[in-house]
Amino acid sequence: MKKWLLADKALNEYERLYGRGAWVFRAPGRINLIGEHTDYNEGFVLPASIDKAAYLAIGPSHDRYCRVTSLDFNETVTFSLEDIKKQSTSTWINYILGILDQFMRDGLTIGPFNAVFTADVPIGGGLSSSAALESVVAFALNDINQFRYERHEMAKLAQRSENEFIGVRCGIMDMFTSLNGHDQQAICLDCRDLSYRHVPLNLQDYQLVLFDTGVKHALAGSEFNTRRAECERGVKSLQAVDASIRSLRDVSLDFLSDHQSLLEPVVYQRCRYVLSENQRVLTACQYLEQGQLAWFGQLMYASHEGLQHYYEVSCPELDFLVDHCRDKSAVLGARMMGGGFGGNTLNLILNSAVEEVFQSIAPAYMKQFGRTLHMMEVNIAESASCIT
Ligand code: GLA
Repeated sequence: MKKWLLADKALNEYERLYGRGAWVFRAPGRINLIGEHTDYNEGFVLPASIDKAAYLAIGPSHDRYCRVTSLDFNETVTFSLEDIKKQSTSTWINYILGILDQFMRDGLTIGPFNAVFTADVPIGGGLSSSAALESVVAFALNDINQFRYERHEMAKLAQRSENEFIGVRCGIMDMFTSLNGHDQQAICLDCRDLSYRHVPLNLQDYQLVLFDTGVKHALAGSEFNTRRAECERGVKSLQAVDASIRSLRDVSLDFLSDHQSLLEPVVYQRCRYVLSENQRVLTACQYLEQGQLAWFGQLMYASHEGLQHYYEVSCPELDFLVDHCRDKSAVLGARMMGGGFGGNTLNLILNSAVEEVFQSIAPAYMKQFGRTLHMMEVNIAESASCIT
């Protein structure tokens, strides 16, 4: 199995560099069935952990330095735990430094370590490659040092790291899923209080497939933070009417439209999208639990429309792929997934028609954008764990 191959790859390189005595950990990327840009608005999301993951081999260092090797970037960074600061040369190391920084801010002591990591979560594809790395590091350090953080506490720590150290004001969905997912189940997560329930993914004759636009998004780019700031402006304006409003979660669609005049038009659009998407997540959970896949698929299309026209985080490539699925009866639903501006669409397609659908869209995509379309089947798998 591929996952063990990657774990072995990390371990072999560790042993070549430092000898025996390493532990190996893994933490997965995620898909999100529905509920986009709702997490940082204290809303609902419906993600699932997948079989693509980050793998970390880690053991003690015998001097005062830590050495971390990325097999994928073919690079080793050496640093001292007494001097943790953001680096501008190797951006991947910052996801690790940020986690160390947070543990230390919590007053914990970490001993010097050596580590080697590799991952098969595609970078910049909306599958949370960075959260997988943050989660595997947090999980490993917590386990080795017996810090006794619960999984949701590690997720919060990783989110703080991304917000404060990396500078992306993301929500908690990605790391929470990497640390709490379950085989064959999605997580219906309330991002307000982190209560959740698992929703079985019984997809009958259908399967989840990703179409990769090949356009790499950069969440650290300002657009993500801009959207979040727009939602916060909306909350602030509505607080003038009702001081008890803390987040968009406290606002109903009716209340929002009654006070539309208080908001800048763009802020109103953003808020309206978030509130509608929250409702879609709750309805989607019911549909999945009742096996109403066709109705669930309609919600996927509706989610995409909101992201395209009201939240404005899609791009022509994503829209093209979703549009080309609409008239295909074998596709029940399609939508952009993750932060947006590139990455993958998520599609719910009849098993027997997956190849045919792909073959009909790929040439059209090439003609329109001059890019090769790649397809990936999604397998829902376990969350972060210690392998050895
Ligand atoms: C990124 C962020 C998440 C979430 C999604 C959009 O993946 O890291 O917190 O906001 O975008 O749903």
